[in-house]
Amino acid sequence: MTQPCVLPGIAALEEEMIALRRHLHAHPELSFEEFATSDLVAARLEEWGYEVHRGLGGTGVVGRLRLGSGNKVIGLRADMDALPIVEQTGLPYASRNQGVMHACGHDGHTAILLAAAKHLARSREFDGTLVLIFQPAEEGDGGARRMLEDGLFELFPCDAIFALHNMPGLPTGKFGFLPGPFMASTDTLTISVKGVGGHGAMPHKATDAILAGAAIVQALQSVVSRNVNPLDCAVVSVGSFHAGIAPNVIPDHAELQLSVRALKPEVRDLLIERISAVAQAQAASFGATATVEVDEAQRFPALINDAKSTAFARQVAEDWLGADGLVTDMAPLTGSEDFAVMLEQCPGCYLLIGNGDGEGGCMVHNPGYDFNDDCLALGASYWVRLVESFLA
Ligand code: NI
Repeated sequence: MTQPCVLPGIAALEEEMIALRRHLHAHPELSFEEFATSDLVAARLEEWGYEVHRGLGGTGVVGRLRLGSGNKVIGLRADMDALPIVEQTGLPYASRNQGVMHACGHDGHTAILLAAAKHLARSREFDGTLVLIFQPAEEGDGGARRMLEDGLFELFPCDAIFALHNMPGLPTGKFGFLPGPFMASTDTLTISVKGVGGHGAMPHKATDAILAGAAIVQALQSVVSRNVNPLDCAVVSVGSFHAGIAPNVIPDHAELQLSVRALKPEVRDLLIERISAVAQAQAASFGATATVEVDEAQRFPALINDAKSTAFARQVAEDWLGADGLVTDMAPLTGSEDFAVMLEQCPGCYLLIGNGDGEGGCMVHNPGYDFNDDCLALGASYWVRLVESFLA
């Protein structure tokens, strides 16, 4: 049922947008392969009178609409990619692309922005330029960076940019804002341990890479607990550890992969420095060596919301919904988000919309997750109000 705060023009589009969202859900596409999705987005934007640019970041789509004589420009961004997950929702509109799933709600974000786009082009109640950024590959492959490399803000300079993401566990349709550091930086590190292989029966003739690797995993736990200021946020997780193939062979090599998160650049630097030192010293204590590599393609900075843009975005929500429509205790998250790199080049705000806090609700990236369609009209109404306020 449509909530009373939904704009009438958006309420009229709600059924269409639910159908569109479910179509996207049934036809998910992986990062940089959003071919059908970007075709659909581009076709709709063209139909509604937007100037459409394609190919930024590969499958990215940008729509622009200028109205009146105002010289202000607002950018809104939605992500379009899905994840390599086998869907287990059993929904009638579940993925028809086996092994690929919209498990992060980017189907919803795309539908929300399209609904707002249609309404804004029809109602024409703004004065200035609206830039709609449909981004590929948000899920770790750097779609935002690729769009920037392709000249996003040279071609489409914006005064401020905004993006929203659904969040399971927050009440349906409530909006969450936080100025400053909001999402963590992420770094992926690979530690290669080199020992000397040998017979499992004669360990004294070998240098055991597994033992050195295990010691590294243990010792890394001291980095967050002993090196980082307890009042700062930091995460060091070893997510993969591979070594050996046979019970009677001591392997000469072990490989560990780590995910490292922080909210402050100085903490991020400290973590990487200490991980390297600990890994090398631990390996050396067993007579092995360790090399530590940071995957440059998988590095994302912390997401820092601009204070002024965030205050503005929050005020728009509060004027519309009252304080009751906002999440009151918004705290930073240790997840990451590549909208962060866009925010390094243009001030703006990344905000959350609650996906519901009911029992059995799945977190994003879970095979049972689904975007909450009750958020579509609320999210689109919010975008409309934000644009009409920014370009008043
Ligand atoms: Ni996501």
